Amino acid sequence: MADRTFFVGGNWKCNGTKDSIVELIDQINEGPSIKDAPVEAVLGVPFPYMSLVSEKLRDDWQVSAQNCWTGDGGAYTGEVSVDMIADCGAEWIILGHSERRHLDVLKETDETIAAKAAYALGKGMKVMYCIGELLSEREADQTLAVCERQMQALKEAVSDYSNVVIAYEPVWAIGTGKVATPEQAQEVHEAVRSWVKENISPEVAESIRILYGGSVSPGNCDELSTKPDVDGFLVGGASLKPDFLKIVDSYK
Ligand code: G3P
Repeated sequence: MADRTFFVGGNWKCNGTKDSIVELIDQINEGPSIKDAPVEAVLGVPFPYMSLVSEKLRDDWQVSAQNCWTGDGGAYTGEVSVDMIADCGAEWIILGHSERRHLDVLKETDETIAAKAAYALGKGMKVMYCIGELLSEREADQTLAVCERQMQALKEAVSDYSNVVIAYEPVWAIGTGKVATPEQAQEVHEAVRSWVKENISPEVAESIRILYGGSVSPGNCDELSTKPDVDGFLVGGASLKPDFLKIVDSYK
């Protein structure tokens, strides 16, 4: 069995208020220490609250942004640079989330996402790189083709994967309550890891964490985590509740 530290990320998306976040962080801070445990816990926080969370959150957890500008700061109205994200105490950035790939007002391309990943990694940040297919693509038996295309874009932009985690998030499972079965998740994770072995290196394939995301809950995380190529989770809705601690605990 490969020695890959289990990883549980929370993606709060565009949710929260100062009061709700302070309450949730207070509850999370009450959870058991993971300081010496084989698990990493990271919270993906909306930009306005990153400093607040960084200041209040227990020091055995980490903070992530959910996006970044593609380069250095400057005359880019409304954008947030990697330097600013680091300045707010975040060490991670979620990139390529399906909501940023598919929402009509965003439509981020594979190339833009990969360029952001390369830039952020070059600045010393760690990246959760999201991939995953639409329901229509799965129904057309294109799941692996889509994931491989998204991975190829990353390969063309990035050479060092030591600070990269892949998050496989079937779009049809995000926010729907229709979680992938452990077998479905394992099938794609195994295929992605094989692709990494063939197209990047056996060493990276062995070490890179591949997370599952899409309606993960305290009720389904334990079975999903038993699969050999499921190295953790990227959790949306359930990360906004104190029960998120139970999902972090599924590393055991
Ligand atoms: O990034 C994680 C997210 O897309 C999953 O959302 O609410 O289905 O856990 P959810």
